[in-house]
Amino acid sequence: MKLFIDSANLEEIKTAASWGILDGCTTNPTLAAKNGVTDFLSIAKQILSLVPGPVSLEVLSQDYAGMTREGIALAKLGKNAVVKLPTTIEGLKACRALTNKKISVNMTLVFSALQALLVAKAGATYVSPFVGRLDDAGHDGNEVVQEIIEIYDNYGFKTKILYASVRSPLHVKQAALMGCDIATCPFSVLEKLVQHPLTDTGLSKFLSDWKKSGLKPLV
Ligand code: E4P
Repeated sequence: MKLFIDSANLEEIKTAASWGILDGCTTNPTLAAKNGVTDFLSIAKQILSLVPGPVSLEVLSQDYAGMTREGIALAKLGKNAVVKLPTTIEGLKACRALTNKKISVNMTLVFSALQALLVAKAGATYVSPFVGRLDDAGHDGNEVVQEIIEIYDNYGFKTKILYASVRSPLHVKQAALMGCDIATCPFSVLEKLVQHPLTDTGLSKFLSDWKKSGLKPLV
């Protein structure tokens, strides 16, 4: 499963990229606002050069013509740019128009299997079910993802399932167990994926035993 960072913070993105496990990035207007971004195009260019993989950049327009215009401009920012569109009728129309131009599209704000069916039919490269927000609202986000997997398998849709709105390492494990193509995680969750108390205690025991034994350094 590919791991993306869900962030518009250059320091977080740079740090996660340095770990050698980062496959891509997703951003959205809220993440940009949270980081005080005013010139999104300039930040987007920097993210595109930092990330070794697809970077989703969201349009702001709500209508087909505006989304298509913004999508074409965003796609021109870099080879790894992916245009992120909201899952509405206008978004579906723009998705079809952009995919016809061979531009990769990530359909966002997906909360049901039926929405996922439509975005696959519109030719989306990625579908982003928002698992955490469904869970927050008392639904079962994973159940929706499971339904999407089943429907895509039934018909051989090629749209990649991007497990989004991740709240915890458990979400990441569940995404991987279900066979999702990608999980996009906040930096705080990415950091937690490697952590285990037994690793920490095991490592300090190795170090203290080594110091006691008088073993020479390896190199
Ligand atoms: C995905 O592309 C979105 O940016 C993101 O996962 C939204 O998550 P949130 O519910 O934490 O805002």
